[in-house]
Amino acid sequence: MKFVITAGPTREPIDPVRFLSNRSSGKMGYAIASAAIEANHEVVLVSGPVNLPPPTGAKIVSVITSDEMHAAVDEAVRDCDVLVMCAAVSDYKPASVAEQKIKKRDEKFSLELIPARDILKSLPRSRNFFVVGFAAETNDVEEHARAKLATKNCDMMVANDLSDPNIGMESDENAVTIFSRDGESEKILRASKKIIACALVKKICANAKKVLTKKF
Ligand code: C5P
Repeated sequence: MKFVITAGPTREPIDPVRFLSNRSSGKMGYAIASAAIEANHEVVLVSGPVNLPPPTGAKIVSVITSDEMHAAVDEAVRDCDVLVMCAAVSDYKPASVAEQKIKKRDEKFSLELIPARDILKSLPRSRNFFVVGFAAETNDVEEHARAKLATKNCDMMVANDLSDPNIGMESDENAVTIFSRDGESEKILRASKKIIACALVKKICANAKKVLTKKF
């Protein structure tokens, strides 16, 4: 199968020297890319700015902003079988980018933000590839993950519980629950991101084959 996997954060520029971003390290997405390559799949890895060596065998498309990630995904999914949106894409971006560095002043300062384009929501509803979203939640994990599965029109939603600060973002370990469209859910208990990635790739392939019956 051909996988398109997104990983890492995006950066939304404020002025020439500042940006809005998040703590995503890219480790989970890179581990999924490596696991998919090990299972003999073709991988295009659309990566935000991270400090990780590229997995051998992946085609890397490097991006910085959510708009660049949107364009790269749009291009890469044209002939793919599976899209895994593991990246922590910014939900908001500055309404405008200052051309010159914004000067410090001794008064309150507020930045106007507008919603960034939601890459998952912008995918065509009728498509012939399997879509996996990620939901990083600090509370009511199941409720939020199931809601995102529906509103973002995904085939599968992988929920990270961020309430435990020792796992998840930036860590080498994770624990996830996978929610599928048929209402089924499966927990993968705390393990290295490498082990979680292998289990995810297996589950994604099995479910994708059921959905993409004309292809496989
Ligand atoms: O809404 P939230 O950001 O929590 O949703 C997370 C999921 O949506 C992830 O799979 C992420 O890659 C995707 N996403 C997106 N476009 C955005 C923000 C998030 O596709 N602008």
